[in-house]
Amino acid sequence: MKNTIIRKGLPEDAPDFANLILLSESNLFPTIFGSGVRRVIQNLFHQPKNLFSFEHSYFIEVDSIKAGMIMGYSWRVAREEEWRTGLLLIKYMKLGFFTRLLSLLKAMSIVGRAEGNEYYVSNVAIYPEFRGNKLGTNLLLKAEEEAKRCGAEKSVLDVKVDNQGAIRLYHRLGYSVAGEPRRAKINRENFAFSRMCKNYNGNID
Ligand SMILES: CC(C)(COP(=O)(O)OP(=O)(O)OC[C@H]1O[C@@H](n2cnc3c(N)ncnc32)[C@H](O)[C@@H]1OP(=O)(O)O)[C@@H](O)C(=O)NCCC(=O)NCCS
Repeated sequence: MKNTIIRKGLPEDAPDFANLILLSESNLFPTIFGSGVRRVIQNLFHQPKNLFSFEHSYFIEVDSIKAGMIMGYSWRVAREEEWRTGLLLIKYMKLGFFTRLLSLLKAMSIVGRAEGNEYYVSNVAIYPEFRGNKLGTNLLLKAEEEAKRCGAEKSVLDVKVDNQGAIRLYHRLGYSVAGEPRRAKINRENFAFSRMCKNYNGNID
């Protein structure tokens, strides 16, 4: 595609971030954040130093129109920012945080782990009208660049077991499935995610 650029996310990208994150995971986020999901996601995105912050996102634009985004961070950031993410969730979800705590904990048991020397790709999404043009591939390559810059030895992500299109794309980019899918029943809905990872053998380009 012509005139394609990748740039860092900015606080004003919050509405597109919410749209795209809900496209990438349309069930899990509403299940854990409740009916105010869009507001909660946008508020988190506006703030620095949390795991949904604009600081961890890249947007891809085609002819100056936002076409998609990717969000990712290193294991160090995951460790440093998880508490603040929790505190901000309390601030924005208020009582809902406590009534949904069990759902949040169940979700955290199946997605979102970033351990030693891993770079976690938490979300990637392209608006439907732009799909199939290698924009997702370009964003994932950008995340790889970022992972290596952070000194990560591998990139990891969680993908729904039935998202065959995305799984095919990740395979093509060198990711492989690690272990059995992780499953949880959250609010009467069954979720199953496969962990996929791509090893860099400790090499930094
Ligand atoms: C997965 C996604 C980010 C790929 O972005 P993209 O720009 O379409 O991907 P690319 O053009 O670089 O690569 C195309 C590949 O993506 C995959 N793909 C998944 N859904 C697709 C769709 N609706 N249209 C086109 N390709 C799709 C296919 O594997 C395709 O490869 P193929 O040509 O062998 O079928 C995008 O389809 C999307 O936003 N999907 C919905 C959100 C989502 O599932 N995110 C991943 C969550 S883990």
